[in-house]
Parts: sequence; C-alpha cells; structure tokens
Amino acid sequence: MQKPLIVLGIETTCDETSAALVKTGDNGRGKILSNVVLSQVNEHAVFGGVVPEIAARAHVETLDHVIAKAMEEAVLTFDEIDGIAAAAGPGLVGGVIVGLTTAKAIALVSGKPLIAVNHLEAHALTARLTDATPFPYCLFLASGGHTQVVAVLGVGRYEKLGTTVDDALGEAFDKTAKLLGLGYPGGPQVEKEAVNGDPKRFTLPRPMLGRPDANFSLSGLKTALRIEAEKVAPLNDQDVADLCASFQQAVVDVVLDRLRAGLRMFRERHGAPNALVAAGGVAANQALRKVLHRLAFEAGTVLVVPPMELCTDNGAMIAWAGLERLALGLTDPLSVAPRPRWPLEDLMADVIAKGAAA
Ligand code: KG4
Ligand code: ZN
Repeated sequence: MQKPLIVLGIETTCDETSAALVKTGDNGRGKILSNVVLSQVNEHAVFGGVVPEIAARAHVETLDHVIAKAMEEAVLTFDEIDGIAAAAGPGLVGGVIVGLTTAKAIALVSGKPLIAVNHLEAHALTARLTDATPFPYCLFLASGGHTQVVAVLGVGRYEKLGTTVDDALGEAFDKTAKLLGLGYPGGPQVEKEAVNGDPKRFTLPRPMLGRPDANFSLSGLKTALRIEAEKVAPLNDQDVADLCASFQQAVVDVVLDRLRAGLRMFRERHGAPNALVAAGGVAANQALRKVLHRLAFEAGTVLVVPPMELCTDNGAMIAWAGLERLALGLTDPLSVAPRPRWPLEDLMADVIAKGAAA
C-alpha cells in the first residue's frame, strides 16, 4: 500500500481561479482538504461570455491569494505536500500560462514534483475522487467549452467516442439565453424559464439523430430557434418560456440519442461500463439528469454525477488528477509548455513514453 499523498491543484483555464489541496483518502477515494474557487462570472456577464484578456488579468491578480487561502484552510506548508499540479490546458492560453507558471515557481522553490494536468482528464477522473469509480467507465462531459463522450480506460487512457462538430452544449444554452435576452451564464436561466414553458409549441430540429457515431451538432438548433423567435417577435414572457422549453426538449432528445449511441460503442469495444459519469456545468440541468438516469438504467450501469461544485471547474479535480498521476510516477519537467489545444487521446502516448503502469 502506497503512502498517502497530498497534492496542490491549480485551475486557471477559463473563468474560475481555483486552488485546492487533496489527499489520498479511504477506499480509493480522495479527501478534499480545501477547495477555494473564485469565479469571475460577474466580470464577464456584461459581455455575455468569457473575455480572454479580462480572464487572464483576473487570474494574475487573484491566484496568489487563492493559493494562500487554500494552504491556510488545509493548514499545510509547501514542505508538507508531495506535488504541485496545474491545469496546463486545454483552455484560454493567457490563464493557463498564469496557473502553470505559478505552479512551476512553487515546484522550483519547494523542490516538489510538478504535474501538468490536462483539464479534461481532471473532469474525467473526478468520479474517482468522489466515488472511487473503477475503470472502465463512460464519461459524458458537457460544459461551456466541451461536449465529449469518452471511454475512460485508465489514467491517461482515453478513447473519444463522440464530440461536437460545432458548438458545445453549454455554449448552445448560453447563445439561446443571449438571443432571448436572458442573463449569463445561460444554462440556469434557460432551465428556469423552461419550467413554465410548452416544449411542444415550437418545432426545432434534433441534429444527428439516429447516426451510428456519438457526435453532436448544435449550431443548427440555435439557428432554428432564432428563426422561430423572429416569427413571433416581439416576444412576451410566455413566448420566451415556450422557446426555452422547446429548446431544452430538443437538447434532451439529442443527448438521449447521442449518448445511447456512445454507450453502444462503449459496449462493443470494452464491454459493460462500470458507470455512466456526467461532468461539466451542463450536468446541473435537471431535465438532462433524468435522461442520464434513464440511459444508465438502460445500459445496466449506475449514473455517477459528482456534486455540482466538483462538476464545474475547480482546483480539487486538478489536484486529484495530479495525485493519481503522481502515484504512477507521471510527473513533468519544469520546461513543460502550456497547451491551448490538448485532446484527451494525446495522453496515451505520454503515458507510454513515461513507462507508467497506468
Ligand atoms: O463546466 P462549467 O462551469 O464551465 C466550463 O465551461 O468549463 O460549465 C459552464 C456551462 C455554461 O455554458 C452554462 O450555461 C452551463 O454550463 N450550465 C447549464 C446549467 N448550469 C450551467 N446548462 C444547462 N442547464 C443548467 N442548469
Ligand atoms: Zn471544465
């Protein structure tokens, strides 16, 4: 049995500045000692989306304090930790540089190993931090920047089953909200409006339905919604609610069909998954969760949805991915570069090159 590890994790790839300390816990889970998350959502809200320059500047201004607070809450010094993990991508490069450079400086001064974590891998492994979910499992990652169905086979071992060919799911919610004059981020607003709406009033397409692969396409849906909205403009409250309900129902139908295809692909290639795992901000949507439950049931597996604060961007998931990597001896040199684009499938070559027993 390996000795328990403690890792500092730093997340700065988008609009959350976060630092956390995570320790090896009981029964294969992790123990979160602290998880400080500073959201920049108010700074970007007026623009209806994340502005990269504003994000990078806010990370520079706040990261030191966020790390100090995470260390303080965990009552630890750098001497007492085993490694420093930072999200090295994919994401907005200005923010990634801030987080990764800070992690390198701490690693250099403390003499502790650096772990350059792939942000998507961190989302993928969160179910192990919270639930010790055994490999292999099927991940549905749906956030403002990503929509992916992934076979999670091991640390660093990912196989993409499907992805979006245009907009991400969260992005589609955000654009719909913007079009209808609702606030940012759009997902929660659209969901709230949809409660009072008629999902059958507007006929919207279900892109990619019935295709054998698990890919998504969402930009056509958004365009169709705009056309329907223009037909009934000026919009009253009920129109907005009905448009939101119709949009959400279309998304639910698309997710059901696309994930069903993804789970079929998973089964054909790897046998039954040990779980269907949802991650990313969109997993907060209750209508979608219902569908995920149904899919897991159909596939004869369980649905694992980590608590919302661990589904959205946070330092604890970076620390945990760093901890899993550190336990396998997968560390990185201080020369490691930030990677604005970094597909999950690229991690396999890295694991093989480092010769880890993942
Ligand atoms: O994972 P996340 O917090 O940040 C990243 O994008 O990385 O996800 C944010 C996204 C936004 O697009 C937001 O509109 C969407 O998740 N979202 C939702 C809901 N809550 C957040 N989408 C649909 N329904 C929700 N309740
Ligand atoms: Zn994310």
